[in-house]
Amino acid sequence: MPNKPILTVRNLTTRLQIGNQPVAVVDDLSFDLFPGKTLALVGESGCGKSLTALSLLRLLPTPPALPSTGEVIYNEINLLSLTEKEMRRIRGKKISMIFQDPSSALNPVYTIGSQLMEIVGLHLNLYGEEAFARTIELLTEVGIPSPKERFLDYPHQLSGGMRQRVMIAMALISEPDILIADEPTTALDVTIQGQILTLIRSIQQKRGMAVLLITHDMGIVSEIADDVIVMYAAQAVESADVITLFDQMSHPYTQGLFASSPSRHKSKEHLYSIKGTVPPPSLFPSGCHFHPRCPYAMERCKQVSPPEFKIGTNQQHYAKCWLYDGSEESSEKLRKGAL
Ligand SMILES: Nc1ncnc2c1ncn2[C@@H]1O[C@H](COP(=O)(O)OP(=O)(O)O)[C@@H](O)[C@H]1O
Ligand SMILES: [Mg+2]
Repeated sequence: MPNKPILTVRNLTTRLQIGNQPVAVVDDLSFDLFPGKTLALVGESGCGKSLTALSLLRLLPTPPALPSTGEVIYNEINLLSLTEKEMRRIRGKKISMIFQDPSSALNPVYTIGSQLMEIVGLHLNLYGEEAFARTIELLTEVGIPSPKERFLDYPHQLSGGMRQRVMIAMALISEPDILIADEPTTALDVTIQGQILTLIRSIQQKRGMAVLLITHDMGIVSEIADDVIVMYAAQAVESADVITLFDQMSHPYTQGLFASSPSRHKSKEHLYSIKGTVPPPSLFPSGCHFHPRCPYAMERCKQVSPPEFKIGTNQQHYAKCWLYDGSEESSEKLRKGAL
């Protein structure tokens, strides 16, 4: 087992004021993030993954969001109880974030070198020659060839993959304990995706940093994650370490997500897809949020939200699904199968 978690999230809930009613868009999420490990948060688009990341960093505007409830414990303090000023000492420093679209975070009118040097000054109090040297070191660390020449490039002169490397360099300047990577490779070509994931992995191992990796792609999860949370319609529906999860996918949503992942199929014709789509938060159904799309749905799935049931003998494997309540009806369903 790894050592102490660097981040402990308990019952994190974020509500958005939608219409005249607040709706939980992050609903009772709990997890631990360990130094040197990658936790993948996986689910289709619209499941609340980005809102989870933004809630952790307290970046959601209130309103429309209400202040998150629960606990986000970093270094024994609950980030949710800090003042905005105190939070600014953590955000972008101890906990950094990179996004799907690196262009949005880079200023098009400054060279990447000057943008990096500015942040080096801000976080490390290095200026002039020292800042330049540190910036070149960073560009080298993130695998940018001829860093002294690239230093003078504007963002648009770099490829998408190189821009994402610059973003990673920027996120690393403050030597964060935690990197939140929200779909960091989704906008990139498949060949480049692998390189960026490998880079994140190697930097993480070298620095002992914890990574919260947000993705919709089960293929990426299998490649890079140590632990996994599968998220559906604001809720964690299954969680386990990556080996246990792939060995014994238990929630019908996890099974569907895996069966429909493009990397598993050479030909698009045979691509399985989960029927229907993720509803917007204002239309979350009663009972289990997944029941309208679930091939196993039983009567009570429509009525009552399931608790998390323990799966198998692994200490940390849970599925939020009535199929695992041990009742006769569920056991029969599981025996017959539905997918
Ligand atoms: N300000 C908002 N008002 C209403 N709905 C929102 C708002 N922001 C996000 N949402 C909705 O919340 C859901 C979760 O969004 P998001 O966290 O971005 O999903 P993901 O990152 O998993 O694709 C989506 O249905 C999205 O449309
Ligand atoms: Mg998102």
